Amino acid sequence: MRKIIIDTDTATDDAAALLIALAQPDTEILAVTTVAGNIPLEKGTRNALMTIETAGRSIPVYPGAAAPLYRPLVTADGVHGKDGLGDRDLVHPTRRPEQTHGVTKLLELVRTYPDEIEIIALGPATNLALAILQDRETMAHVKHIWSMGTGGFGPGNCTPVAEFNVYVDAEAYQILLSAGIPLTIIGFDLCLGEAALTRGDLDVLAAGNPVMQFMEKATSAVVAFNENSGHGTFADLPDAVAMGCALWPEMVKKTVSVWAYCCTKEEPSYGQVIFYDRTVPMSVSCEIPPDNAVVVKTIDPVLFKKKFTDALASL
Ligand code: RIB
Ligand code: CA
Repeated sequence: MRKIIIDTDTATDDAAALLIALAQPDTEILAVTTVAGNIPLEKGTRNALMTIETAGRSIPVYPGAAAPLYRPLVTADGVHGKDGLGDRDLVHPTRRPEQTHGVTKLLELVRTYPDEIEIIALGPATNLALAILQDRETMAHVKHIWSMGTGGFGPGNCTPVAEFNVYVDAEAYQILLSAGIPLTIIGFDLCLGEAALTRGDLDVLAAGNPVMQFMEKATSAVVAFNENSGHGTFADLPDAVAMGCALWPEMVKKTVSVWAYCCTKEEPSYGQVIFYDRTVPMSVSCEIPPDNAVVVKTIDPVLFKKKFTDALASL
């Protein structure tokens, strides 16, 4: 049984990722920790509680950081809706969050289960960075971190070079990259194209069980954002792709080991994550520190969407 902690700024695609994890019989979700990102912390926490309740499960939710380490919070309510789940009046949780801070709980669990816990990081890395700063030795016993972050091998979605999760708290992401914890990065590039849910895929959800209908409604704002941006009718779900890569290794086709570095000093490059991929010949040989991440380069998008739909249908 895999033990995981899900750290999330619960909006549309985070909810999709949570539902995937909740549907996995071989995976024990020890805790959900929430972090400010897509929406303010309190809303993201309510969304996590509501998503878990919709799946008929009871997993403790621990609120974490309400703001990035240094900069004011940047949200994405223009993409996910004011409530983060499509503004379809879906969010009425009956359970309340736990009183323990998410960072405190994360460290407690890693001390209890050293070298066993995998963290699925779906929002800004603020909670993870705070845990590392607070107790680096304990965090060295995290088995693996799966991070939805960076543009992968594509452009940013927040600035031309920065993906949202990293852009919200680039200093936190650099702390994560420097911590020496086994890390797999799933970039934004992987959720586009064939991996994005088409109108036909969404209609299958709308005709499905209550969990599938919840998910389809929650994608409303993301679909509208993509349509209004002239990109077409689809729902890209980066966090669900990241959770899929973590829990369904058969969908991962190619990975590459890199040294990754996150830019934090200059505004134009703030949140850009540079990958030094040693397989690419360089004309100038330069001293590169040891690799600190594995980046997923390609996935099987058709397999991802089938497993995603099957997972929600099983709840
Ligand atoms: O850039 C996409 C990421 O930012 C996803 O995790 C999405 O939920 C937002 O947090
Ligand atoms: Ca997220």
